[in-house]
Amino acid sequence: MTRNFAQCQASNNLQARDAWDRVASHRQHVTQLLLDAGRSGGRLCVLGAGNCMDVSLDRLLERFSHIALFDLDLNAMEFGIRQQISDQHPGRQKIQCNVIDLCGWTGITDPVLESLGTSSPRWQEVLRSISQFSPSLDDFEPFDVVASNCLLSQIIAPVLLRQPHDPIQISIAIEFRRSHMDLMWKLAGQEGSLVLISDFVATDTSPELRYLSSDQLGEKMFELIRNGNFFSGLNPQILAAELAGHTRVKAGKAHPRAHPPWLWHLYESRAYLVIAFSIINNATLGGLACE
Ligand SMILES: C[S@@+](CC[C@H](N)C(=O)[O-])C[C@H]1O[C@@H](n2cnc3c(N)ncnc32)[C@H](O)[C@@H]1O
Repeated sequence: MTRNFAQCQASNNLQARDAWDRVASHRQHVTQLLLDAGRSGGRLCVLGAGNCMDVSLDRLLERFSHIALFDLDLNAMEFGIRQQISDQHPGRQKIQCNVIDLCGWTGITDPVLESLGTSSPRWQEVLRSISQFSPSLDDFEPFDVVASNCLLSQIIAPVLLRQPHDPIQISIAIEFRRSHMDLMWKLAGQEGSLVLISDFVATDTSPELRYLSSDQLGEKMFELIRNGNFFSGLNPQILAAELAGHTRVKAGKAHPRAHPPWLWHLYESRAYLVIAFSIINNATLGGLACE
């Protein structure tokens, strides 16, 4: 069957629907980071919202006046909202689902995805056109908090799946990473804050992760980075450096912070190590201190 990228993502989301209890501590981490980044009454945007298993919507509704969810998969977002919030919930109208391709993968079908890693001219052409893709988000007012919830790995993974060391594909992955961060900064306008949450290694290549206490995960992260054991294009130290290099950070207008990593038990057979960065607008920092 010829499936496109969006259908593959929808199928992954369907498979993950039973994860609610397993991902409870991940949800707790993510929700707290979003609450910490936003002032009361602010507008929140969640990129890669999927089944919304990583956010407690009722807690976010107490803080934010508007929550815009973005994903390719409308069914997943609607399922996620229904799981948490009844149609009669007074906050339901504050949540908006936006179906949008945030990186230009939507129309790519299985046969093309299967040619990944080959040097087929067609594939190179597809990648070039994707790297020039820019989602049309001009209709949206800037958000107070822009969160990217484990979306970056999904955007980058297909590029590097088969030949993670191919220089052309690495440069395209880097281009995707840069354009995703640009998108976050754009949606945040001049004054919004960012929360970037990124899964960067799975228990497939580091099975011992499952047996470590949360205190041991920070040290483990540095060991994995030293050994090159992470998803290509998602080295947390590079992500940190890229965020710190943005003009708003360099001008002292936004303050970046890396948070200790944690485990995300998305599937019974596989967990991911996750890192998060908050880049909080200075004005928000002052406001939060007073709340
Ligand atoms: C790993 S899931 C994130 C988990 C999700 N936040 C949850 O708790 O269920 C990644 C999400 O990104 C979405 N996604 C992947 N590529 C996308 C793209 N190009 N544009 C928009 N959404 C995309 C997928 O549909 C999926 O819902």
